[in-house]
Amino acid sequence: MKVGIDLIHFATSDYFLGMDTFAQEKGQDVNKFYVGLGQEKMSIAPPDEDIVSLAAKAAEPILQQIERQAISAVLFATETGVDQSKSAGVFLHRLLGLSSRCRMVELKHACYAGAAGLQMATAMVKANPQERVLVIAADIAKYDLNSSGEATQGCGAVAMLVCAEPRILEIEPGSGYFTDDVMDFWRPNHRSTALVDGKYSTKVYLNSLKQAWEHFHEQTERGFEQIDYFCYHIPFTKMAEKAHQTLVRKVGLEYDAAQEAKTLPGQIYNRVIGNSYSASLFIGFISLLDNVKESLAQKRVSFFSYGSGCVAEFFTGVVQDGYQQWLMTQSHQQQIHSRIELNYQTYLQFYYQVDFAQSNLTLPHFNRGPYRFCGLEGDKRIYAEYSENSTTSG
Ligand code: COA
Repeated sequence: MKVGIDLIHFATSDYFLGMDTFAQEKGQDVNKFYVGLGQEKMSIAPPDEDIVSLAAKAAEPILQQIERQAISAVLFATETGVDQSKSAGVFLHRLLGLSSRCRMVELKHACYAGAAGLQMATAMVKANPQERVLVIAADIAKYDLNSSGEATQGCGAVAMLVCAEPRILEIEPGSGYFTDDVMDFWRPNHRSTALVDGKYSTKVYLNSLKQAWEHFHEQTERGFEQIDYFCYHIPFTKMAEKAHQTLVRKVGLEYDAAQEAKTLPGQIYNRVIGNSYSASLFIGFISLLDNVKESLAQKRVSFFSYGSGCVAEFFTGVVQDGYQQWLMTQSHQQQIHSRIELNYQTYLQFYYQVDFAQSNLTLPHFNRGPYRFCGLEGDKRIYAEYSENSTTSG
């Protein structure tokens, strides 16, 4: 029985900050960002957008195509959790009208948890082919102003339906993994922004790739030449490029244009969305599916997930025949192209957001829907379906 991704869709926010605006404000050469980091824009979440509204926006187009009551579990991966106890998926459960006979759990390990969710969902379906599991990876990447990480912010959510006989990607058995207790990126409970030792994190990322690759190769005996396209965790696209160069050299090959072509299409969306932590690997995969000109049917794609702290995993999947008719390319591109550009002052207003020390809060409307975070009532988060003409409490 094949198990894997049946449908996949991403969401990002309605606003972006251009790296040209950023560079001008910081008095830096824009090529540091365009060339040095490989980033052109970063999606910025307004105060009334969070991981729950982004996740609902990512999942709804999938649910419109299937029997939503058949979803048996939601595995919600995030490192931008909105509550220390209640899982974000339960807010989503109400917004999306899922069955009460559905399990919800939140998964966390920095940018890695989305891959963990996908592997867990695959195992659940293998154990019981009736399972239809919704895996969500949603994050808002936020660093201190004027820190090195500020240029690598962004936000996004990916929803993936995992079930038997998938229409888009079969996840292949076997994977390589690596864990090491390091402090390259972390966010203590009292902080809304992450702390990062940026240069160190890039070194740990590349070492983790080499370690996870070795384990993958031992476990599966699949070789580099048997992989057609490579997707990497993308904090900024230059990191993915460096990762691919590292892997190519590790297997004793020369890095050339042919090698570059195996990973570049998987960076196109990330270059204009920015970092989305747990979602970024899968936005990269969607970018590959939407942008490669040749048919990917029966092509093997690799996935390298890296979560600072650190946990990494390398695994592969095979794209299924006829996958093209199930892609939601138009929705992805329309979201990217219809975003509103921010000037630096409005970016700062969004950045400072609101004082969450208050227990009652009504947020101004910036998010254009279809779901929004409305504020707090007695410390309870309120979400709503939202469109220009109507609002329904959720
Ligand atoms: N034109 C072209 N390239 C330029 C440039 C210019 N004018 N100015 C600088 N660059 C290049 C640098 O040479 C460097 O390239 P290299 O990495 O190949 O050496 C790159 O741009 C970044 O410049 P640098 O001075 O190192 O940037 P920084 O001190 O601002 O730090 C990060 C970069 C990635 C460490 C920082 O953005 C960060 O901390 N990000 C968050 C952590 C992260 O995402 N980690 C990844 C692992 S998960």
